[in-house]
Order: sequence, then structure tokens, then C-alpha cells
Amino acid sequence: MITVEQVAGACGAVVHGADLAADLDDAEVAQIRQALLDHQVVFFRGQRLDPDQQVRFSRRLGPPSPVPFVQAIPEHPEVIAVVREATETHGYTFGGLWHSDFSFLPEPPSASILHALEVPPFGGDTVWASQTLAYRTLSPAMRQMLTTLEGVHSAVNAYSPKMQAVHDTFAGMSVQTDESATRTQVHPAVRAHGETGVPALFVNAQYTVGLCGFAPHEARPLLDFLAAHTTRTELTCRWQWRVGDVAIWDNRAVQHMAMADFTGHRRAMHRTTVAGEAPVAASSLT
Ligand code: SIN
Repeated sequence: MITVEQVAGACGAVVHGADLAADLDDAEVAQIRQALLDHQVVFFRGQRLDPDQQVRFSRRLGPPSPVPFVQAIPEHPEVIAVVREATETHGYTFGGLWHSDFSFLPEPPSASILHALEVPPFGGDTVWASQTLAYRTLSPAMRQMLTTLEGVHSAVNAYSPKMQAVHDTFAGMSVQTDESATRTQVHPAVRAHGETGVPALFVNAQYTVGLCGFAPHEARPLLDFLAAHTTRTELTCRWQWRVGDVAIWDNRAVQHMAMADFTGHRRAMHRTTVAGEAPVAASSLT
């Protein structure tokens, strides 16, 4: 029997009683989907998924999202390995800046599924921040203004060719940068969730590089304010990984970041992503 245990005030719940490697019935998948909608990020302990099983489970949540720049593992084009080797001493890990996965795509992924294969003895937690709560905790005047704005998203600071030398120093990951990363994509600053309609801020430090119609020096202070506000500690849920854990998060409702605080130890995960819809603007003051 599936049960759901909330683990933080803002977002996050552990789902008990589901074996994600098994052939889940439709009712069980519906319960997991509902838990994800209710809690924005859900965790499962003690799972053992090989790449085929992870893909099969992921597809129960929806078709796969495109995965640009990051090379998939051999023979599994839907699975990327998120790995930081013990030998890496720089202060960075993949996903180490606050972001919503691939928000620079026209249709960013709805959900991401991360499975822990090897974890460090300390550190390497992932932190999520609720963007529906981030929106709700703004003043009515600020909410009103933000619902009229559109963010400019781009992978330029992550995956354009100027970043290849940086990626090449990361022994655990295989990333192929290219010029397409300089493209921009406009999304509403406040999106209505595709399934619940609940408004959420959709602006992040990694990929939101401007605001439509604003000069860069005008956009910067607002983006800096939003970067600070959207990641306030009370909006977050932090997960300390054990081998076998699976996290599923809703990129339409949360941002996340991984902590690079485990130098000297290896961390290895497999990630799949579920296709999403083009973000639709939330109407004013919902
Ligand atoms: C990611 O951003 O998808 C990676 C998160 C993590 O490794 O904790």
C-alpha cells in the first residue's frame, strides 16, 4: 500500500510502499503522480533500478524530454549519468546552481527522476525550493507586476562553446557544448502549472539571462532579487541521499541545486526527464 509522508513545510514527501522497478498498476502510478502534484518533489528509499527499469518507470509519467548537450549513457539515450569523481577538486558539481531543468527549451521537462547509485559519506545533498510558495509569499503589488513579465532563458552560461574547457575539467560528466546554447527562449515569469493551474515563479539564476523589454542594467537588480527570494531557506526541502534513493521533482513547481561539498568522494546518479509543455502565463493575482 502506498503512503505519503511529508518531510518539510514548503515541499517534499517520502512515498512508501512502491517498488519502482516493478510493473506498477495504473492506480499506483496515479497515486505517485498525485503525490508529486501535492508535494512538488517526492522521494523513494531502497530502490534498485537498472537503466531499462528507470526508463520504463519514467515513461509511466510521460514521454521522454529532449536532453541537449549532456551525453547519454551508452545504449540508453534517455538516461544521463550525473557523476562527480573523487578526484575532482573544483567547487562545482553538475546542477550546482539554482535552476529548473533545461528551462531554456521551448517545452522544458515537466519532471526529472534522479536515482542514487553511489553517494559520498557526507555532503552531496540536493535542495529544492517551492516556486508556488515563492510566488505566494510576494506582495500583491510585486505579484501583479511579475505576471506581466517574460523571462529570457538561455543555456549560454552553461553549454555554449566558451564553457567547453570548463566541462572538460569535470572528469565524471560528458558534455558537448555547441553554438545552439546561445539561442534564447522567452517564458512567462509566472507560469500557471500545466495540470493544477497553480501559479509559480519561473525565473532561475542559471538560465534566466534577461527580462523582455528591459535593458540589462534594469533587469539585473530584479533578477538578483528574484534569485534571492525564490531560494529562501523556508521555501526549501533538502535531501541527504542514500544509495537506492529516487527523487522525482516537478520542474514546473520547484527549482533545485546540488551541493558540491564532498570533495574526495564519488557521487553517481542516473537521471531521466519527462517531456513538458510550453509554459503558459498565470493570470494576474491568482
Ligand atoms: C540536476 O540538476 O539534475 C542534478 C541534481 C543532483 O545531482 O542532485
